[in-house]
Amino acid sequence: MRFDKAFFKAAYGTADGIEPSSRPEIVFSGRSNVGKSSLINKLLNRKSLAKVSSTPGKTATVNFYDIDGAYLVDLPGYGYAKVSKSEQQRWANLMDGYFKQQRDIRLVVQLIDSRHAPTALDLQMLGFLADMELPFVIALTKTDKLKKSELEKRLSSLPCEIDIFDELPHCVLTSSEKGTGIDELREIITDCCMQ
Ligand code: GTP
Ligand code: MG
Repeated sequence: MRFDKAFFKAAYGTADGIEPSSRPEIVFSGRSNVGKSSLINKLLNRKSLAKVSSTPGKTATVNFYDIDGAYLVDLPGYGYAKVSKSEQQRWANLMDGYFKQQRDIRLVVQLIDSRHAPTALDLQMLGFLADMELPFVIALTKTDKLKKSELEKRLSSLPCEIDIFDELPHCVLTSSEKGTGIDELREIITDCCMQ
């Protein structure tokens, strides 16, 4: 699969507007500021195709990137307390509407910050993915910010923290800063688009 020929396809602020498609989709989900847009840029080997910001809430729309006949879908992040109630409602409707459409979602990459325990909303999202029977992997982000021993400690805590599954879902350790886990994720994405 060619990851180096990607281009921005479209952005949608409401679910109704999202164009129907039968192409394979790989979705990036996670709390605001966890590193979704950065990970997409790294996978596509681009500096700023997806807009990155240290201010949470940068991605407010569902953004589609065309890669070789498939779409990478950058979702707006959840859990940013400073947005208004009406904006939170718009986000909830957008997510719900997107996931309930007839789409060929091959994989959801659920991002979780490697430095912290999953938040209540992360666990809610994982529960939602399981209920919807969507295939997913967890990408632990920003691993460059942890020492090896700190990362090991976090990894050993995860099975207890994510106790909604009998076994911990597959976790990919990633760093968009250092490129960690990028080849592994590219391989996983390629495999699910080939099926
Ligand atoms: P929203 O669009 O608000 O939902 O955020 P997002 O999940 O798309 O996060 P984004 O990619 O914009 O990154 C947020 C901040 O984290 C930026 O300042 C990034 O530079 C930083 N960041 C993202 N990934 C990494 C990483 O792997 N390592 C380090 N050190 N910083 C990262
Ligand atoms: Mg973003």
